[in-house]
Amino acid sequence: MQKLDPEKLPRHLAIIMDGNGRWAQERMLKRIVGHRKGVETVRTVVEESSLLGIKFLTLFAFSSENWLRPKTEVRALMALLKAYLAKETTRMMANNIRFAVIGDRSDLPEDVNSAVAEAIAKTSQNSGMVLTLALSYGSRQEIYQALTQLVDAVLAGKIPREKLSEDLISSFLYTSEIPDPDFLIRTSGEMRISNFLLWQIAYTELYFTEVNWPDFSKEEFYKALANYQARERRYGLISDQVRKRR
Ligand code: IPE
Ligand code: IPE
Ligand code: MG
Repeated sequence: MQKLDPEKLPRHLAIIMDGNGRWAQERMLKRIVGHRKGVETVRTVVEESSLLGIKFLTLFAFSSENWLRPKTEVRALMALLKAYLAKETTRMMANNIRFAVIGDRSDLPEDVNSAVAEAIAKTSQNSGMVLTLALSYGSRQEIYQALTQLVDAVLAGKIPREKLSEDLISSFLYTSEIPDPDFLIRTSGEMRISNFLLWQIAYTELYFTEVNWPDFSKEEFYKALANYQARERRYGLISDQVRKRR
């Protein structure tokens, strides 16, 4: 922790939490055991991020494609999510964390949706870190619903055609209240984005680690952040220009 520069932390950190199932299967355990262990990692990373002063943490917890998994796994994941929310809201209050969700919430089971609504309402006045869970989230679906709303607004004459801009498109996404991620971590060795925040990660720094999510420890987390801090974000410019700007 001492090695990290507090001035150079990502303002928005996004994580694709992957590898729970393989972690369990490698140990001859049921996949759900890996998911349960993964929740412990969530606790660690949420706590450390909040302590470090990271302002936005977004965790990919369940994709729109994950609904196609075996029913037993989907059910178990939903139950785990509900239990997490019931238990963690207290800790969120203690740590001044505001809870948010991106994704198509209408797909979630009624009881999970109520737990989500409750956690959002309870923590709405908190001013510390914003913890966003991507639930039933798919980036193409997000862009599609944004376009639908935009086209409707333009056709209804509510938005003039010449007002269309990149920022306006961003404002119709689920992430309208959140800045684009500075850093994206994916665990488990897969080198893909899996339909996560496609529009938002245009200039995000990407980090892939072989470590499965249940094994992603505090040390691994700090290692990832140190890696981020050693990078130069150029946004298409050359090094000299970037240095002069600082
Ligand atoms: C990530 O772990 C959690 C979810 C997608 C819900 P996985 O369940 O994808 O684990 P692997 O990738 O099969 O090991
Ligand atoms: C991405 O992981 C979704 C989450 C971490 C919630 P997956 O395990 O679903 O992704 P793929 O199928 O390996 O691309
Ligand atoms: Mg996976």
